[in-house]
Parts: sequence; structure tokens; C-alpha cells
Amino acid sequence: MEVSVFGSGYVGLVQAAVLADVGHQVICVDIDDRKIVQLRQGIPSIHEPGLAALLEENIKAGRLHFTTQASDAVAHGKVIFIAVGTPPNEDGSADLQHVLSVARQIAGMMEQDRTLVIKSTVPVGTADKVRMETRATLDARDKTHLNAYVVSNPEFLKEGSAVADCSRPDRIIIGSQDPIAQAQMAELYAPFNRNHERTTYMDNRSAELVKYAANAMLATRISFMNELASLAESLGVDIEAVRKGIGSDPRIGYHFIYPGCGFGGSCFPKDLKALIHTAEENGIEPRLLRTVTRINDDQRQLLLHKLKAQFPEGLAGKSIAVWGLAFKPNTDDMREAPSRYLMEALWAEGARVRAFDPEAMTECRRIYGYRNDLELCATRDDTLQDADALVICTEWKAFRVVDFDELRKKLRARLVIDGRNLFNPQQLARAGLHYIGIGLPYIRPSSASVPA
Ligand code: UDX
Repeated sequence: MEVSVFGSGYVGLVQAAVLADVGHQVICVDIDDRKIVQLRQGIPSIHEPGLAALLEENIKAGRLHFTTQASDAVAHGKVIFIAVGTPPNEDGSADLQHVLSVARQIAGMMEQDRTLVIKSTVPVGTADKVRMETRATLDARDKTHLNAYVVSNPEFLKEGSAVADCSRPDRIIIGSQDPIAQAQMAELYAPFNRNHERTTYMDNRSAELVKYAANAMLATRISFMNELASLAESLGVDIEAVRKGIGSDPRIGYHFIYPGCGFGGSCFPKDLKALIHTAEENGIEPRLLRTVTRINDDQRQLLLHKLKAQFPEGLAGKSIAVWGLAFKPNTDDMREAPSRYLMEALWAEGARVRAFDPEAMTECRRIYGYRNDLELCATRDDTLQDADALVICTEWKAFRVVDFDELRKKLRARLVIDGRNLFNPQQLARAGLHYIGIGLPYIRPSSASVPA
């Protein structure tokens, strides 16, 4: 099938590559020349496992093309994905100008019926707006006989496993009540439904809300666990035991109940804000959603509070090792990352940061540039040189195996603050370290291993 994708960002690029990979003929269009030049050579603009290989293979096979010419994409794709950004406005609502302008552009050029598939995360009612705008544009061109069908098809891909999520989706949501558009979507997604049907059809508005509902539910689970972690800590209870205890109930499950230093990334915080805005606009008081956000805002300050509590003399002049800058493992994305809240607060306190991340060092440099109070270290263990304490912000696999004796020898305050509960408190206490997690009992370091 001929498919075009507007937008070669995270969502558009992965979708384009995966659709080409199952045999569709895909043109991906973006206004950014430099990006398109790179993508033509198979160089991905984002770090995502498996993406480079997918690009290379499908470009070579002639199924995947990149262009800055919107007209080529409109002429080519019977089905046209809209996967452009919807950044937040100041009031938290999603800014739809890019989505609407792409829709108008398509309607301004199309000479045959086209199906516009909205992949960007957009508030309820956006498909209706796109339908109205495209109709008005077509009518103004005297193309009253042409149809622009509008499908709402939210994405559910996670950074770090975007290619896998997109190639093997656990559900495909098609919001459209038009039989022609539904049939096209069925054909397009047939390769993904081979073993069993994963598609659910519904109206546009419901499909639009599915995306927000899914993210809000997941964010709620995390904030719930973070609140319980604080309670567990004050009760001397181990939240990790509680997590395992509740996760075994299949109605609850083990996913997304990991307490930590707060959720970040490009989706949860932004989508929660947008959903809160939608609720307010419609006269519904979003009590739960507001609390979920507030708990998370507090949670991202928690590492600093825990650190401050250990240094009553203040953090000025202290040197803090930070492991993990990305908002989660397997990505270089630092949007809304807990590490940023920590580092910025540390700098405000007059502390210095020695940081390491397996992927996000370039991104960190791009955001913060060169500054005296930030040293980006070549390895995880280099951060420990002359450091007073270690703080772990991201649960990268490379942080899981650690020589605790080394940590004790290097860290002046023998202090590890772990925002991801990677270790066993008893083991660290035995090694003579002060280990403070999220909702973990504090165990005094055994004196045998602590030098006088
Ligand atoms: C999320 C959704 O999962 C995805 O379906 C949607 O399309 C986009 O938003 P993503 O932002 O890539 O994906 O990351 P995800 O893996 O969901 O993690 C979100 C945040 O929650 C991370 O900061 C992570 O550290 C945190 N998290 C996750 C927890 O703190 N505890 C958990 O148990 C799970």
C-alpha cells in the first residue's frame, strides 16, 4: 500500500520505518532539510534500538523514502499519517497548529480521495476540527467531489522500545466510523494482526481519549506507589516487599508499580496537563489527575531532600556523583528527567555535579553547555573521584553490578541515594555504606567494614 508520513520525529520516523518493513511503500516528509539529508543516508535522528538497521534495510530495498516535498507525499500516499508535534501551550493545552496546518496543506494539494490518520497525541475533538478544516479547504478549491477521511490512530510506543512496540503492538486503536477508511486501515495493519486480531474500532473522539486515559492510568499507578513509598519509609516498611506482594494479584500486576524519583519524559507530564485542561474546559474537576501531578512534582525534589537531610551543614562545595541523566534507560532523552531537577537544585545549593549516563551525555551537554559545576565523566566509576555522595537517577543495566567496597572507599560520606531502588539495603549496609532508597528501610552500616 502507498503510505505517506508527515513528521519524521519520534513517532513518525518509527512508524514510517515499521510500515516499510512489512512491505508498504512509504514516503516520510519533514520540513527540516538537514534531518532529511541524514535520514536518506539511513542515519536516525533519534537514539532508538533497532532503528538504524530498519532504516538501512528499507531504504536499500526501495520501500522507504525521505523528502521535504509535501506535494510528493500527498500524491503518493492513499493513507497519510500526521505525526507532527503537539507541544504544550502555556495553559497546558496541546498546541494543534502543526497538526491543523499539515491537514490544510494536504487538502490544498490532493487530487484524489485521501485518508488522513492522526498519529500525534491530540485532545478530544481534534479529528472533528481536522475534518472541518480539510472540507473547507477542499470546497474553497472547488473540489467538492473529493473526500478527506479522518482517522484517529493513537500511538502507544515507549522510548527505548519504540521499534519493538510499533512492530508488535499490543493493540491498534482505529477511531473512524467511515467504512472506506476502516477498510483501508484494516489493509494497512493486516501484517500486524496475523496471529490474532489486535484492532479495536471506535469513533474518533473515543480513540482520542484512549491515549490520554492510558497514560493517565499509568502515571496514577506510579504516583500511588510513590505516595505509599513515603508512607512505607515512615513506618519502617519495605516498599519493595509491598510491591511484590500486590503485583502478584493479577488484577494489579507487576507493571508500572515501581516507586522511584518520579516519572518524566515527553509524554506523561505533558499528557496529564493536557487532560487536566480538557477536564477543566468541560466543567469536570480533575481532582485525581491534579494530585497525580502534584505527587510527581514533589517526588522529583525528593532526591535533593534526602541528600540535604544527610548534610546538615549544607550542600555548598559538596561534590555529588550522579548516575543516570536520561529520564529512563535505553534512551538519550532528558525531557522532564528527574536528573535535571536534581542537578539544577544542586547547583542552586552551590554543589558540584560529576555525572555519567551511557547515552545522554551529548544531550546533557547540549542542554547545559560547559559550566564549572558540571563535570561529565567518561565512565560510571570516574564520577566517584573526589565525590562526597552518589545519587542514582536512572535504572540503567550498567549500574546494577557495583563493587560496594570501591564505593565505600571513594565516597567521602559513604552515602548512596538511590532513586530507583537498585540494591539490597542489607548488602550495602554490610559493605559499610549509608544506603537510602525510595521507601526502603534504612539499615545502619555495619561498623566492622567502616574505617574508624
Ligand atoms: C509513555 C507510555 O508508556 C507510552 O505508551 C506512551 O505512548 C508515551 O508515554 P515513555 O514516556 O517512553 O512512554 O516511558 P515509560 O516507559 O512509560 O516511562 C515513563 C516514566 O515513568 C519514566 O520516567 C519511568 O522512569 C517512570 N516509571 C515507569 C516509574 O517511575 N515507575 C514505573 O513503575 C514505571
